[in-house]
Amino acid sequence: MENGAAPTAPAVIVAIDGPSGTGKSSTSKAVAAQLGLSYLDTGAQYRAITWWMVNAGIDIDDPQAIAAAAAKPHIVSGTDPEKPTIMVDGIDVAAPIRTQEVTSQVSAVSAVPEVRAQITELQRSIAASAAQGIVVEGRDIGTTVLPDADLKIFLTASPEARAARRSGELKGADVHSTRAALLKRDAADSSRKASPLAKADDAVEVDTSDLTLQQVIECVVTLVEEKRAAK
Ligand code: DC
Repeated sequence: MENGAAPTAPAVIVAIDGPSGTGKSSTSKAVAAQLGLSYLDTGAQYRAITWWMVNAGIDIDDPQAIAAAAAKPHIVSGTDPEKPTIMVDGIDVAAPIRTQEVTSQVSAVSAVPEVRAQITELQRSIAASAAQGIVVEGRDIGTTVLPDADLKIFLTASPEARAARRSGELKGADVHSTRAALLKRDAADSSRKASPLAKADDAVEVDTSDLTLQQVIECVVTLVEEKRAAK
């Protein structure tokens, strides 16, 4: 190797989609950190625009009002997998976007096509500027946002496994109500007209119900390394 420089791996774009509670965020962050890639949590962006709409007093039941305001908030995502950040109009919203209020409204806001158009454009520009490559997690990354991604993963898990994980994350929340809320959000996300939650035809499906997080991470890391080697 000239100048003793380490060989640089080709940039690789990885799309990880699936419903909530499948281990998507933990897996995506760990894979990106392990492989030196950037990381983008697209759910955080939809949560951020929802937080802004709620704060601005926009009627969440009025898709036209949401559409008219869709271009107003300035959303900035930090893509370091060790410390991802999310800002709206210069405000750090990492904590407020995880409140129940935002969680219960995000499906309605993210179903509005003008919102999706804004956020999709932002996601594509972030992916294009990631020099080493990026892991992008969401619901429509493999199907709509980055249809030419090098690797597409679709994570699934049984509703029971997902509810158990989510209630653990929410520090002891009731599993039954968590399961009901999760299934309601999935149904809304899967049935909306504008780029619903869906598995791309060329995605690798991984059922995480009976796997540990470490096993899922290893599985995805192996798949990414195979893709990189073939580039
Ligand atoms: O991954 P999450 O639970 O933080 O996502 C929050 C919501 O954002 C989810 O209910 C659906 C929406 N979302 C979306 O519509 N498209 C994406 N690519 C990511 C999230």
